[in-house]
Amino acid sequence: MTNSDFHGSGLTSALSKPVTVSWHSPSNIALVKYWGKTGRQLPVNPSLSMTLSKAYTETRLTASPRETKGAVELDFWFEGKQNAAFGKRMITFLQSITDIFPWLEQVSLKIETHNTFPHSAGIASSASAFSALALCLCSLDMELNGILLDENEFRFKASYVARLGSGSACRSVFPGLSVWGLTKALPGSSDQVAVPVTEIHPVFTTLRDTIIIVNSKEKSVSSSEGHNRMIGHPFAEARIKQAGRNTASLLEAIKTGDKQTFIRIVENEALTLHALMMTSDDGFMLMHPETVRIISRIQEIRKETGLDICFTLDAGPNVHLIYFENQIEQVNKLIVEDLDIKIKQNIRIDDFFGKGPIKVG
Ligand code: PMV
Repeated sequence: MTNSDFHGSGLTSALSKPVTVSWHSPSNIALVKYWGKTGRQLPVNPSLSMTLSKAYTETRLTASPRETKGAVELDFWFEGKQNAAFGKRMITFLQSITDIFPWLEQVSLKIETHNTFPHSAGIASSASAFSALALCLCSLDMELNGILLDENEFRFKASYVARLGSGSACRSVFPGLSVWGLTKALPGSSDQVAVPVTEIHPVFTTLRDTIIIVNSKEKSVSSSEGHNRMIGHPFAEARIKQAGRNTASLLEAIKTGDKQTFIRIVENEALTLHALMMTSDDGFMLMHPETVRIISRIQEIRKETGLDICFTLDAGPNVHLIYFENQIEQVNKLIVEDLDIKIKQNIRIDDFFGKGPIKVG
C-alpha cells in the first residue's frame, strides 16, 4: 500500500454550502511498543495496542466554499478556543496529504476538537486526535466526491492517513486490539496500516487500564525526538528482533488466554522502552521516582496476592495499571489503599478495552 493507492481527486464543481462530519476516536495503549521510525512515518518494528474507551477525542470537521484554490486554509479550535500552536501542526499535516485529498486546497476548513480527558492528564492525545481527524477526512472525502468504500476499505484508508499524522494513531481506528507493522506472526499485517487482531480469547476482552497520573507536565523529550534517538542506537538491532518475538508471543497468549505470558511481555516492553531511552547516545529518563515506586509496588503486590495485574508505560512518567474485569474490586481497593495513597495530586482514569471510533455526525 502506498500513497498512490489512496490518491483521491479534487472537486469537479465548487462546493455550494458547508459540509460537516464528526467522529469520536479513542486513544490506545501500546502493549508492544513502536519505538523508532524510518521513511514516511514507517515503524522499524511491529507494535500491538489496546484501543481504549473513555479517553477519546471528538472532532468536527467542516469544509466551506472558497473562492480560489491554494494552500490549506484552516481555522483550528481546541477545547472551545482557537489554538494557533496546534493549528500550525495540523496545517503542516493537512498540506502533506493533499495528494490523498486534493480538495483540501479547494475548500476552507474548520476543525473543532475536544478531549474527554484533561489536556494536563499527561495522556498521549496524538493517537486519538489524528485518528479522529483521519476518520473525518475520509468521511468528508466520501461525501464531497461521492466515493463509496466498504467498511474495511474505509478503516484501512483512515488508518493509513492517521499514521501519517502520528504513527500510533493508525492503531486507534480499530476496536479492541490491533497490530501495526509487518510481522510473520500475523498474516495481512503491514507497515502502512494497522490491522485488527481477530483471534482473542474472551478473557482479553475484559482488559482494563487504570491510568495513574504521576506528572502531567509536558515531557522533557518528545516522542518524535525519542524515535530519532533510535537511529544508530547501540541496541537497535536487538530491539527490533525482540519486538518481533514479543509480538508473536503476545498474539499467541491473547489467542490462548495465557495471562502469565501476557503479563511478562507487557512489563518487559514497558521496561525496554524506557531502557532504550536511557541507553541512547544522548540518554534521557522520563520515569520519575514515583513511577519507579509504583511499578515496583505493582510487581510486589502481584507476588504477594497472586492478582493478575501488571503495568505498562507510555513515553512519559505515568503508569498504566493493566488488569482484568473479574478482579476489579480487589484492584480498586489496592489502588486506593496501597498505590495512590502516597500520590499527592493524583488523577486517575479508569479505562478499558474499547469498541473503537464512532461516527457522530
Ligand atoms: O505515535 P508517536 O509518534 O507519538 O509514538 C508513540 C510511541 C509510544 O507511545 C511510546 C509507543 C506506541 O507504540 O504507542
